[in-house]
Amino acid sequence: MIGASPTVTPTIRALAPADRARVEAMARATPLFRDDEIAVALEVFDGAANGSPDYLGAGAELDGRLAGWIAWGATPCTAGTYDLYWLVVDPELHGRGIGTVLIREMERRLAGIARLIVVETAGRPDYAGTRAFYEARGYRRTATIPDFYAPDDDLVVYVKALTTLAW
Ligand SMILES: CC(C)(COP(=O)(O)OP(=O)(O)OC[C@H]1O[C@@H](n2cnc3c(N)ncnc32)[C@H](O)[C@@H]1OP(=O)(O)O)[C@@H](O)C(=O)NCCC(=O)NCCS
Repeated sequence: MIGASPTVTPTIRALAPADRARVEAMARATPLFRDDEIAVALEVFDGAANGSPDYLGAGAELDGRLAGWIAWGATPCTAGTYDLYWLVVDPELHGRGIGTVLIREMERRLAGIARLIVVETAGRPDYAGTRAFYEARGYRRTATIPDFYAPDDDLVVYVKALTTLAW
């Protein structure tokens, strides 16, 4: 297709504390994220990069540079439910397949372990691309809480069931 950026093949690797500045820069370059959300993203990153059992993660590297990252973890007080806590790709590299590689990596690592993956995102118009991303990857919109984040800023919950022998 004319004008479409080609898909790339990033290398998946573990997150490391040294990635923190790059993770913060990617978050600050993402127009969707407010400052308070960036602070939370860094908390999640710190957990995933420093071996917390509650936060698991992976990074996608392209040409020797972190291009995106994902973090997830077991949801407390559930049997086999996991939350996708954070997913972000460098805005300069959106639409090149990196987010897909990261979400597939999470699903691969949860196969046989997780029963359900839950994603919480926003219902605002500027999140339409994000919602389309999850929907096209098999995540089903299951709930909305109106005005959750702020007036006219809904919470939208997506769920994907993993079919595994373990469950
Ligand atoms: C959502 C996000 C992780 C997707 O990663 P990505 O590498 O751009 O996605 P991919 O290239 O693998 O897939 C492209 C798909 O994502 C969707 N998408 C969402 N935002 C997009 C953007 N800015 N540019 C291009 N595609 C985008 C499109 O629907 C596209 O669909 P298609 O495959 O049918 O063409 C990434 O756009 C991002 O970091 N967005 C901002 C942060 C965010 O919303 N994080 C999730 C919070 S819950």
